[in-house]
Formats: sequence, structure tokens, C-alpha cells
Amino acid sequence: MEVRTLTSSLAGAQADAVVVGVYAEEKLSAPAREVDEAIGGLLTRLIEAKEISGKGNEVFTLWGQSGVKAKQIVTVGMGPRASRDAGAVHRAAGAAARAISSKARGTVAFALDDDLEAAAIDSGVAGAMVGCQGQDLFRAERRQHPFQEILWWKGEATSLERGRVLGECVNFTRRLVNQPAQDIYPESFAQVASEMAGQCGLTAEVWDLARLEAERCGALLAVARGSAREPRLVIVRHQGASEVAPTLALVGKGVTFDSGGLSIKPSDSMKTMKCDMAGAATVLGAMRAIGLLKLPVNVVGLMGLVENMTGPAAYKLGDVLTARSGKTIEVLNTDAEGRLVLADVLDVAQSGGADRIIDLATLTGACVVALGTEVAGLMTNDQTWCDQLSTAAAACGESVWQLPMFAEYDELIQSEVADIKNIGQGRWGGAITAAKLLEQFVGGLPWTHIDIAGPAFRDSAKPWCDAGASGAMVRTLVEVVRRLGEPAS
Ligand code: BES
Ligand code: MN
Ligand code: ZN
Repeated sequence: MEVRTLTSSLAGAQADAVVVGVYAEEKLSAPAREVDEAIGGLLTRLIEAKEISGKGNEVFTLWGQSGVKAKQIVTVGMGPRASRDAGAVHRAAGAAARAISSKARGTVAFALDDDLEAAAIDSGVAGAMVGCQGQDLFRAERRQHPFQEILWWKGEATSLERGRVLGECVNFTRRLVNQPAQDIYPESFAQVASEMAGQCGLTAEVWDLARLEAERCGALLAVARGSAREPRLVIVRHQGASEVAPTLALVGKGVTFDSGGLSIKPSDSMKTMKCDMAGAATVLGAMRAIGLLKLPVNVVGLMGLVENMTGPAAYKLGDVLTARSGKTIEVLNTDAEGRLVLADVLDVAQSGGADRIIDLATLTGACVVALGTEVAGLMTNDQTWCDQLSTAAAACGESVWQLPMFAEYDELIQSEVADIKNIGQGRWGGAITAAKLLEQFVGGLPWTHIDIAGPAFRDSAKPWCDAGASGAMVRTLVEVVRRLGEPAS
């Protein structure tokens, strides 16, 4: 998809559709006023008639107005002006894009307002690109048709380009997560990662079964044993700063299908478990953006890829695994597999010279119970590092909320037979007990865990984004890295 600045007037724009923003109270934004004048005050009359309200993400379409070159004029509700942030702009652009994309369009011009901050512009451009891309990969008749070109009113070329890269990388992650487990399994994911790395100035290293065995990744390997698919560990590197500069590690859970293993899931809970590699796909999408934007930071992305199945060699309840770090873990539920995979990958990150770590995982249903489907959970051993992440999330309008890591919770993963066990005492606080296990493998480095079990995959569409994979947290990760690269002030 191309993204360019709209240089002509709105009325004269060479586009199939022109999208203008309308607010909840004062209604017409500056570009909406310009369009309103060109069409003889029709928007004003529609607002008076309460057909257009300015409520967030409300879309209204007008056809064939002679004062405007574009066939279609679309208004989108921006909500109250006072609460207009990057997230609101992202959703408004997405909602308009999703509505328009029900039919094939060439060029769509967006003019939500003329005073958007740079951060809101790149969120808006990304929102438009995400909004017009659907999950219907296998349908003969697509429900959504991505635009060929987006024109953006009054945007600096650098923000538009950043928005374009972000939108493309969020869609890259969404596509990878939406692809079923028949197509995306550890080996094929690693293939996608290697190809992508080559195209985006990154280097990729893939650990196969033999290497994982040589590295004694006993926890990850145990999870993989029940599957006919071999596991992989993918390491993607972006060298954006000098060799002595600190390195950020992004670690992703890549369970390409989670059947639960012998602690098998009920069918209803299993049907969307192709999404259980969303952590890894989020890391890969963010690495792609970091490479394309050439951010001046050293970042390494590590993705632990396995399929959790029930084959004859599957790991069993009561098994005691020796993780790469040497710690022993008693398995009391084979469906608590993500933390086992991450235990080894975090150890690889930590022992490989990372200076700080973020991990992402569709780790626990408990996190979804705690925070709902739209909010990612943050758990940390370093408040400053966690705050940096929260600030970055807020700047791009993604919702995160921190859960506590009180020392009391450490007791809940104590085992009678091994150093630790892979589930807590009963189901309470399940998001936190999972994080407590991860914490054992980060070697005391500043670390924040992001549980994306809620937001990574939606059962039903939002006005601004189709159902299925959301690409949640890709933009936040890129924003964290962008901020790390800014000269200290
Ligand atoms: N992949 C699941 C978590 C999940 C749930 C992701 C819902 C996306 C949506 C994870 O591996 C899992 O099964 N967790 C168990 C842990 C339990 C056995 C301690 C859970 O949440 O029930
Ligand atoms: Mn599981
Ligand atoms: Zn899982």
C-alpha cells in the first residue's frame, strides 16, 4: 500500500473516497468544514438532523456530491475533542477504512483534522492500513479489500512513512497469527522469519532440534515432544547502534498450536489456539518495523517455536524437566506449556548478553479473566522499565495494565519434588503465578512480561478491525525502541 501526502484541496482530491473527522460536541473538524462548504452545507444539515453525531467511530457515507471530485464522502466520529489521543485517531481511521473496504477502492484520502500531533498521524495511518485488511485469507469473495493508496492531509513525510511501516508490520503479524496451524508450524514460521529478515536488513539464526538438544533446552524440548513437528528457536538481530551499546531482547511465545497436550483442552477452548504463537509473531512484526525504520538501538528478537500436542512421546504429568538454566520444573499440567518454552528462551536471551528484556505471550486465560479481552497485562521485576513500557503504550493508544508481583506469590510455585512447578496453587492469580515462573529465568535483568492472551485474537470484529488476530502491542514495542534510541535529555 502506498501512502502519500494529499497536496490538492479536499474538494479536488483525486480519490475514490474522502474521509473527514467529526467531533462529538463542536462537530465539524477543519477539513469537514471545507468539505461542508463545497457541498452547500449538507454536512451541517445532517448534523442538525442528528444523522451524524460525532460519536467515536461512527461512519456516515454520502455519494455523488457535485462539489467534491471523489465519488464518496465519508464522515467518521472522533468522539470528544478533549479525549482525542493516538488511540482514538487509530480507531477512527480504522473504522472508516473498514467500512469503505467492503468494496474494492483505489485511492482513499484521509483528513481527520488539521492539527493532529505527529504521534496521532502515524497511529492514524497505521489504523487505516489495519482497518482495510481483513482476515478472510481463504475466501473466494473477500469481505474486505485493502486500498491501493492512502492520501493523508497535512502529514509530514516522516510520520506518514512511519505510519506506513507500522501498519504494514501490524498486518504482517496479523496475517501470521491468522494463518492456521496446518500452514504455520515451527519450521515454516522459522522460514518466514528468515526470509523477512533478509529483506529488512536483519540477520536471522535458526536453532534446529539438534542445536536445541546441544543447548540442553529441556523445558522447550519437553513441550515439543508430543508433536510430529520439530521445534525451532529463531533469533533475529537488528544492529542499530555500536557493538558496545546495550541490547534489548524481545522474547516471544511461539506455540503454533496449543491442544493442551495430555491435559487436553475442551474443543471450544482449542478452536482458536492457532493464535498461541501471537507473542512470537508480535516480536517478528516489531523486529520488521525496527529494521525498516533503522532505529538506532541494538535489538534481538528470540522466538521459541513448538507445537503442544498429545503424540506418543508427549511429556507427562509428574515429569520433572531440567531447563537450560539448570533449574528443575515439575509438570503438573501440560497445558501450562508457554512458561516452559519461555523459561528456556529467556535463559538464552539472558545468557546471550541482553541488557534488558521484554517478553510477549498468550500465556494465561487468567489474565483475560482479570483484565478483559482488550487489555494486555504487564508484570515486572523492575518498575522503571515497566513504566517505560506503559508510557510507550499510552503514546500509541494501546491498553495495558500492570498486575503485582508480590513476593508472597513465589510460594505458590514451590514444588515438593523439584525446584519449582509449572502451575500455581489452585487457579487464583494464574496470570501472576505464570509470570513468577518466568521471573526465575531472567537472571535478575530488568524484565517486563506482557500477557496478550486477551487482546491478541478477537472472536468478533471491532468497528476498526476485523475479527481474528489484532497485531496488539507491535506498535508499542516499536515505540519503546524508538524512545530508547532518543538521546537522553
Ligand atoms: N495458550 C493458553 C492461554 C490462552 C488462553 C491464550 C486463552 C489465549 C486465549 C495457555 O497455554 C494455557 O493453556 N494456559 C492455561 C494455564 C493453566 C493450565 C495453569 C490456562 O490459562 O488455562
Ligand atoms: Mn496451554
Ligand atoms: Zn498456550
